[in-house]
Amino acid sequence: MRDPNPQPVLLKDYAPPPYLIDRVELDVDVREPWATVHARLAVRRNPGSKDTGRTLVLDGEHIELLSVAIDGRALAASEYKVDAQNLRLESVPDAFTLETRVRFDPWKNTRLEGFYATKDGLFTQCEAQGFRCITYFVDRPDVMAKYLVTLHADKERFPRLLANGNLVASGDEEGARHWARWEDPFPKPCYLYAMVAAKLDLLEGSFTTRSGKNALLQVYVEPGKVDQAGFTLHALKKAMQWDESVFGLELDLDRFMIVAVGDFNMGAMENKGLNIFNTKYVLARPDTATDMDYYLIDRVVAHEYFHNWTGNRVTCRDWFQLSLKEGLTVFRDQEYGADEYSRAVARIQDVRKLREVQFAEDAGPMAHPVRPDTYVEINNFYTPTVYDKGAEVVRMIHTIIGKAAFRRGMDLYFERHDGQAVTCDDFVRAMEDAAKVDLTQFRRWYSQSGTPVVACRGEYDATAQKYTLTVKQSCPPTAGQPEKLPFHIPMAVGLVAADGADMALRLEGEPRAQGTNRVLDVREAEQRFVFVDVPSMPVPSLLRGFSAPVVLRSDWSDADLTHLMAYDSDAFNRWEAGDVLATRIILAGVKAIQAGNVPEIPAAYIDAIGRVLVNAARDPAFAAECLALPAESFLAEQMDVADPDAIHVMRKRVIRILATRYRTRFEGAFRHFSVPGAYSPDAGAAGRRALRNAALAYLMELDDSTARALTFLEYRRAENMTDTMAALQCLANSSGAERERALGMFFEKWKDEALVVDKWFRVQATSELAGAIDRVQALLKHPAFTLANPNRARSLLFAFARANPVHFHAADGSGYRFVAEQVVALDALNPQIASGLARSFDRWKKYDAARQGHARAALESIRTRDALSNDVREVVDRALA
Ligand code: TRP
Ligand code: ZN
Repeated sequence: MRDPNPQPVLLKDYAPPPYLIDRVELDVDVREPWATVHARLAVRRNPGSKDTGRTLVLDGEHIELLSVAIDGRALAASEYKVDAQNLRLESVPDAFTLETRVRFDPWKNTRLEGFYATKDGLFTQCEAQGFRCITYFVDRPDVMAKYLVTLHADKERFPRLLANGNLVASGDEEGARHWARWEDPFPKPCYLYAMVAAKLDLLEGSFTTRSGKNALLQVYVEPGKVDQAGFTLHALKKAMQWDESVFGLELDLDRFMIVAVGDFNMGAMENKGLNIFNTKYVLARPDTATDMDYYLIDRVVAHEYFHNWTGNRVTCRDWFQLSLKEGLTVFRDQEYGADEYSRAVARIQDVRKLREVQFAEDAGPMAHPVRPDTYVEINNFYTPTVYDKGAEVVRMIHTIIGKAAFRRGMDLYFERHDGQAVTCDDFVRAMEDAAKVDLTQFRRWYSQSGTPVVACRGEYDATAQKYTLTVKQSCPPTAGQPEKLPFHIPMAVGLVAADGADMALRLEGEPRAQGTNRVLDVREAEQRFVFVDVPSMPVPSLLRGFSAPVVLRSDWSDADLTHLMAYDSDAFNRWEAGDVLATRIILAGVKAIQAGNVPEIPAAYIDAIGRVLVNAARDPAFAAECLALPAESFLAEQMDVADPDAIHVMRKRVIRILATRYRTRFEGAFRHFSVPGAYSPDAGAAGRRALRNAALAYLMELDDSTARALTFLEYRRAENMTDTMAALQCLANSSGAERERALGMFFEKWKDEALVVDKWFRVQATSELAGAIDRVQALLKHPAFTLANPNRARSLLFAFARANPVHFHAADGSGYRFVAEQVVALDALNPQIASGLARSFDRWKKYDAARQGHARAALESIRTRDALSNDVREVVDRALA
């Protein structure tokens, strides 16, 4: 048993490890039901440690110790202590070889952490602390070693034997078995360890790096699925090319492998030279994967590949520094996406997600800084804050110092820290030194949690031709942080004239105007910026490109917003103006509904959407974003007491009014933006499909027989999964007879394609039709459903709890009770996935007293279970605190 009352780990307690391990030799023998691991570790005292004790404490969990030896001498049981978490050796020499033999059963490992079996073979997941489930080790990222690994297994069942680095030898052995030996030339933390023993098909390619090295690229997938691996190989090559040209970073290995596995806790893992991926981010064929799937594969492949430098060559000193690698690598994959697709659309999608998910996290019980200072279970801190807000923090540095200085900063970072395990502060210092700027105040972005609020007020003085922008910042209190100091906020701004043109920007005291788009350094709680030579009253365009992760408040009129929608030279802010206006209208409508009044929708907004449709051909993908109303979850966050029913009703009312008003234009767009020829997931074609399918969704909101017939016809004629799913989703939300027919046809056709079956569950779990919870409960019993597969659990349970707010927040508490039961059921199998689901309750205090009562009872019902994992316990304790 693990400690039932684990102590939090604190950043301020960090101390270097008393012992280092320089070299690891593993011999892994797979014989069902056991995996037996023989480890030889070269251990020595750490000269950098102040600890003078002679005790070596190794981590080990879920493994059975068979023997221990020091320098070849087997230890008697009295010479060591072993419990459920550690192996302790007293009075060890200054330098020695430690040998251990352990065994465990990978077929019983439902946690999918460590070494675990799936239908095609055995796979590892070691980040953050899974290596200790494979062998006894000092499992922390500042212990870096070189690895030599030999794998043995049955040749017929496990024809592929893979580990990090290069294959150095292999052969057959008795009993129809074989072996393979791999050597990784680079020292690495153990969380980057990986091995695979499985039956897999292989797609190969090659890439010549810019210094002329020829690298072998391999994508391993489940037997029979090589026809779905091509895009991943293509994406890998594009990512390699991009990292060379943008950051001058080359692959440092002779071989780079990607292995896809259907049972996987997260998206993918950057193990050195042997990335292991969730099949969701590898497998794609036009008829099985949507445009969004292709796009995400591209981004995730790039993300994991980019980790080879930002994460692997330079790694994290401790897990509080997680954003050092994740924030930076997300920033890099965002930039890759922006370069490969549409920069504006990529930014809109990233910001939408940040505001829907990370801002909510910052406002809830799990709020933590980008560099947390405490955790109970590190797996709970792979969060939107660490990843996505972390990327925004890197992006702000990029905005403040500029592209060229940022590149110099990256070069300096690698020059200083290659091969080291470092901190977020080391990264910031490299940027400071390369750009010769002072980021002292900026560092608060790493230590203070919460989303800052920036309130702007503009005043125009026609006589003096001056425009004064007053900027006030504040940050709401968050757990453990009642008060905050002002942030250094880069605020990109422009002033838009009545004719739509950008004005030249000259601040008081400057000799001349400096462009039409500039970054203001906001550093004070309140600060004024005076623009001179302003010939007429402007509309301010603030926070262009979303230059900082803040909530912006400004006193724009509806007319100011429609002006920005039409003219802002910053595409992000053109979209943003529409989003702000739509939010305003829906929230006002919610109030009206609550008061028993009929909500109104300003004509100016309806006209502005009409113009979006008229101009859609200029950039269909962008138009599709402008047509997508703010999400219900986002709207709920904007209210003091969220009213999920009124939000749902009002949001749909806006859609229906627009659909009625522009029926002909939507029908026209649906016909006009069809994409002839062979399917391609490129930005242009995907953008046309996005617009066309947005039009279809509007039309279906009319829910009349014409719209249903059109959608059903579309469902039947669609030749790619993007169009198929768009139509199916519409039908799943309609009560017509077409619904059951389409869902039935879909399952019959795709029942053997796991990722497509996930889509089938998801589309039903997110249906807004009455009775959702009963249908979800029935689907739990469907033969294709299993809690043991994370993708499947996500497709039904997470989809319901996160993407079906009107039913999850059902007034009678049925949604909460159901999800709480499933958290408990999942926890017995896979704590990481269970705690992810438990986080659906994060925002329970946003709702009315009756809902709060139901949510509290649901949370209590989880907490009173014994044998709860640390993962779920931490989330539930914080929610109830
Ligand atoms: N480091 C991985 C990434 O972001 C994510 C990761 C962390 C992960 N822990 C995991 C993936 C556990 C799978 C399972 O790229
Ligand atoms: Zn990552």
